[in-house]
Amino acid sequence: MDYIFKIFRFDPRKDAAPYEQEFSVDWGDTEKVTVLDALFKIQQTQDKTLSFRYSCRLAMCGSCALVINGKEGLACKTLVKDLGSGPISLTPLRHLPVIKDLTVDLKSLINRLKKIEPYFIPRTSTLEPAIIKPTSRERKIIGMNTECIACGSCVSACTMMHWAPEYIGPMGLNRAFCLIADSRDWPGNRLARLGDENGVYRCHMEFNCTDVCPKHISPTRGIHYLKRQIFWQAMKSLISFRRGKGE
Ligand code: SF4
Ligand code: FES
Repeated sequence: MDYIFKIFRFDPRKDAAPYEQEFSVDWGDTEKVTVLDALFKIQQTQDKTLSFRYSCRLAMCGSCALVINGKEGLACKTLVKDLGSGPISLTPLRHLPVIKDLTVDLKSLINRLKKIEPYFIPRTSTLEPAIIKPTSRERKIIGMNTECIACGSCVSACTMMHWAPEYIGPMGLNRAFCLIADSRDWPGNRLARLGDENGVYRCHMEFNCTDVCPKHISPTRGIHYLKRQIFWQAMKSLISFRRGKGE
């Protein structure tokens, strides 16, 4: 069976503007063919200059994220047979500069992540391994959100990224949520920074990020948790300020 792919092409070094190129790919048995398989076949048999990114081919590394028929997804996880019989459109992730064709520049994504200090800072130093029971309240709060593979699909789907390019975005805020909800982590002033003009209040709870996440994470849920924490922190500061004034 022939599948038609309409693929975004752009080489900023030689093209004046992006364009769409059509490829027809013939598969006998399409049951297990993924979008990434199709991209390989096009590259190997029709146009070796086609550029796309991948690494694990197992939905683990996040590098093959694309916009497939208008919706973000992993090329290695998306089966061609699930995309209907019409032409399949493949475009790069939104809100990120295109390096070439389907390959985007991830620098701005990483810079946004850096803003929240995305690494664990222990409150107390110990050589003992942490015991986190799956049934503990804290573990349940964090839920699936630690499973993020940093694919950038949520950032691409977030409409606020268009209006506020400096917004930390759902990927970084999801990471911040995982750290702040972990009582072993030293929050420093991470939470205070998340309340600024490029932080949590940019999120209008549209759930687009939640809708596209290939790991079934809800960054929106994490952002909502952060908003509540910022509110309670502000209330606590206000109460202790008033107490200090003897009111
Ligand atoms: S939260 Fe989901 S969509 Fe966003 S970067 Fe992580 S895995 Fe990708
Ligand atoms: S190649 Fe790693 S997630 Fe698709």
